Amino acid sequence: MAIQTPLEVEIRRRIEAAGPMPVDEYMGLCLADAEHGYYMTRDPLGRRGDFITAPEVSQMFGELIGLWMTTVWKQMGSPSQVNVIELGPGRGTLMKDAMRAALVATGFREAVSIHLVEISPVLEEMQERTLEPLAMPMFWHPELANVPEGPAIVIANEFFDALPIKQAIKGDNAWHERRIGIGDDGKLFFAADSETIPHFDRLLPPSVRDAPEQSIYEWRADGAAIELGKRVAKGGGAALVIDYGHAVSAAGDTLQAVGQHAYADPLVAPGTVDLTAHVDFQPLIRAAEAMGAQSYGPIEQGMFLRRLGIETRAATLKAKASRGVANEIDAALTRLIGQGRIGMGNLFKVAALTHSKLGAPPGFEN
Ligand SMILES: C[S@@+](CC[C@H](N)C(=O)[O-])C[C@H]1O[C@@H](n2cnc3c(N)ncnc32)[C@H](O)[C@@H]1O
Repeated sequence: MAIQTPLEVEIRRRIEAAGPMPVDEYMGLCLADAEHGYYMTRDPLGRRGDFITAPEVSQMFGELIGLWMTTVWKQMGSPSQVNVIELGPGRGTLMKDAMRAALVATGFREAVSIHLVEISPVLEEMQERTLEPLAMPMFWHPELANVPEGPAIVIANEFFDALPIKQAIKGDNAWHERRIGIGDDGKLFFAADSETIPHFDRLLPPSVRDAPEQSIYEWRADGAAIELGKRVAKGGGAALVIDYGHAVSAAGDTLQAVGQHAYADPLVAPGTVDLTAHVDFQPLIRAAEAMGAQSYGPIEQGMFLRRLGIETRAATLKAKASRGVANEIDAALTRLIGQGRIGMGNLFKVAALTHSKLGAPPGFEN
């Protein structure tokens, strides 16, 4: 039997004590266990890490978000105080690039307090180092709910995909919660509850209700989406959610593990590989709207970045660059807006949640 990670030892202990573990509990432990969770112990980003995100692909991404922020701020009436909030800021790269572009707007620097919502002590330290040169008021919080109230511009890039999901599997006309158990061979495996989830069908979107047997349906707790919606609806402003996922709820098993830029088995070596699942934008938007927010999108990332002018920005950067750097800019552009397997352009989606009176934010005008 393979050597067990310290987190696997703990997971097995819990399963032996309490029975098979719900997928969200497993995912939560793998990512955020205080001692052994994936995000708590390392910086997973970048070419030498496990995966690369859009702001790490190119400075263009953060810069365009910075311009998005200043336009939204002006749409808000240029308030003299605004909280710029980032959920899951990684290495701080997006915020650094965004501020470089945004601080050109007169009065923006004086208005902004930066709030970073982060659970990882390792990444928080990196963010401090990256963002210190900005010399702006900056605060860290474990949850969005801890950020002071008031007008807000919120950015969440690849944050929601890291929040734990639950899974259910369809049996003969009824759905059973999927859990993680210990098999006869001693390995962790996906098991289905023998009990069904009462009345689950009635809670499902119509597009999922008639899915064939053995289909899997995933869902997340609504807490973060509710908080986002409440914040912009009450305090004013807008939130931008960028993530890979689907615009309309659908059945499917999207839980995936990635380590060193390759897919891995989510049940092997827990705590040492990243676990994510697609974001279902439909319930996320519904939850924010229920709090009074207005929603826009989701639209594809490729379209969003094109509308913000990424091709012009790339041409400007290339005009001053060596041949090698110009090739790198082209490669980054393809990665950010390319379709299908070559890029993030259509897999990643962008949605905005705003105060009802803000009007369409940049990228979402008709
Ligand atoms: C995939 S990384 C994305 C980083 C960054 N946004 C980027 O695009 O490079 C996920 C980020 O969310 C943070 N994170 C994960 N779960 C979190 C949670 N429950 N609360 C706050 N931050 C969380 C991670 O530590 C990390 O900073």
